[in-house]
Amino acid sequence: MRTFTSVADLGPLDKALAMAAEIKKDRYAFTELGRNKTLLMIFFNSSLRTRLSTQKAAMNLGMNVMVLDVNQGAWKLETERGVVMDGDKAEHLLEAIPVMASYCDIIGVRSFAGLVDKAEDYEERVLNQFIKYSGRPVFSMEAATCHPLQAFADLITIEEFKEVERPKVVLTWAPHPRALPQAVPNSFAEWMNATDYDFVITHPHGYELDTKFTCSARIEYDQNKALEGADFVYAKNWSAYADPNYGKILSTDRGWTIDSAKMALTNNARFMHCLPVRRNMIVTDDVIESERSIVIPEAANREISATTVLKMMLESL
Ligand code: CP
Repeated sequence: MRTFTSVADLGPLDKALAMAAEIKKDRYAFTELGRNKTLLMIFFNSSLRTRLSTQKAAMNLGMNVMVLDVNQGAWKLETERGVVMDGDKAEHLLEAIPVMASYCDIIGVRSFAGLVDKAEDYEERVLNQFIKYSGRPVFSMEAATCHPLQAFADLITIEEFKEVERPKVVLTWAPHPRALPQAVPNSFAEWMNATDYDFVITHPHGYELDTKFTCSARIEYDQNKALEGADFVYAKNWSAYADPNYGKILSTDRGWTIDSAKMALTNNARFMHCLPVRRNMIVTDDVIESERSIVIPEAANREISATTVLKMMLESL
């Protein structure tokens, strides 16, 4: 596997899930695979889970790891061609990428959406420049429009916790004080659509996601109706995707916060969130602390999804 940005990159999903389960049983089984190989993780944005879980995954596979926080200690990078670089950006990505690639074997990139220019965000300019110019296998550690390592961990978690063969999974928008990208819900929708689960998305009017990701998923604007009989509730905020409101907050209605009354509508559902989460905006304290909340095992499975992906990339070298 030379790139990892979507569910299709993994090949057959059942095989990838089987590999993830094997890795979970013994995460050090492939420790020779990464010997004398180096992972470079490049962060244009903050992270806790992705940084630690991906580094741990690389160590599980015997790799060396280097981490670069572009905005802390590196030269400020220009990403657009044709710009007269007379401002504060001292280096162009087109030199920086091959230089960084010369020091490593695999590259992970975190680069969030700007939420100003939809076309620029959805062409994934930064991630795609790494794919085009590095000559190395490149994987997304959350890019402008996708977060596949998270979605893979989410799927692994649902497979572990599901009590029926074909669970009802509800992705629900929830309020947040800041405008957030659509990357997590986009990837979650894409990955749920790759399963045979009963998948429903609920959000206020105006929060419709890109149909490239939602495909045939059922959209239900009445959150209470959507939650009825759910086996898994996946809460997440996102800003508007549709024009002319791209990147904007259209609602902070706390009537959409997941509380115990909402959870009571479900089939004793498991609660999920990718974290970090704003308590009592997205979800109430009692729900996230309840025994039906699986946010911690979900986050722990980030190590498993990353180990599986890195193993596949190492095998392609
Ligand atoms: N869920 C997730 O990607 O967390 P971080 O932003 O902390 O990496």
